[in-house]
Amino acid sequence: MEAMRNDVNRRLQELIASSHELVAPITHALFPGGKRLRPFLLLCSLLDSGIDYHKGLDVACSLEMIHTYSLIHDDLPAMDNDDLRRGKPTVHIAFGEANAILAGDGLLTDAFHVLANAPLSDAIRVKLVALFATCAGTMGMIRGQVLDCKGGTFDQESIRLIHHLKTTQLFRCALLSAAIILNDEVDPIWDEIAYLFGSAFQIVDDLQDVQNEEETNIVRTIGLEATKQLLLETRQRCLQLIEKKLGKNKTYQLVETVI
Ligand code: IPE
Ligand code: IPE
Ligand code: MG
Ligand code: MG
Repeated sequence: MEAMRNDVNRRLQELIASSHELVAPITHALFPGGKRLRPFLLLCSLLDSGIDYHKGLDVACSLEMIHTYSLIHDDLPAMDNDDLRRGKPTVHIAFGEANAILAGDGLLTDAFHVLANAPLSDAIRVKLVALFATCAGTMGMIRGQVLDCKGGTFDQESIRLIHHLKTTQLFRCALLSAAIILNDEVDPIWDEIAYLFGSAFQIVDDLQDVQNEEETNIVRTIGLEATKQLLLETRQRCLQLIEKKLGKNKTYQLVETVI
């Protein structure tokens, strides 16, 4: 996993290297970075399917750029108004609000440039561009953010919809990207795994974040015991499907440690 992290970081560094004014805020947001889960999901799925994961490296980096943009904007005063991310000042605290908005806009736009130029066939690149736009756009992650920003109290079904959109869509993007690169996008199991992983990931996040009264949290809606039970069932089913599709290999190990 260390080699994979180094590959992702090195390639991200190359992809953003230039002389423009947003390099500093973008570098601040991208490095050292977080868990790199979305790139790892994509690359591990390729690895477990028996192909050289480097084939998907630019696609994985493009996805991490979109994830990073979403966090910069999520932290803005008009959204979650957070001063800290990963133990560092958020981009708007360190560089001002206008630069944070523009660094996010820049990362999102440049991510599509990276994707469009990835070393893959034209047919695959077109499918990937469409997938990324669907997962990140107004029917996907952005819709989840819009619903989340509405605030108020949500019932269990609405919380699951918000999770499914704001969190799961980029994990889904990682797994379906692997499926597209592998020419295996007709198998619905990828979608099912993504949904289960995203749900479990968000439940873990909510269990850790239960003190924060300002944010929507499933624990407050269905209670602690029911949440723990739901996590157990979702995790087990997710791992079963990963084992069925990819064996007990890198993807399985990655997911096992995260949820
Ligand atoms: C945090 O995602 C934002 C959510 C979608 C809940 P991650 O937990 O993957 O963030 P980093 O990149 O590892 O910090
Ligand atoms: C962030 O969700 C989701 C996106 C950026 C799409 P949260 O607001 O719940 O995550 P954190 O707590 O800021 O990481
Ligand atoms: Mg938020
Ligand atoms: Mg937030």
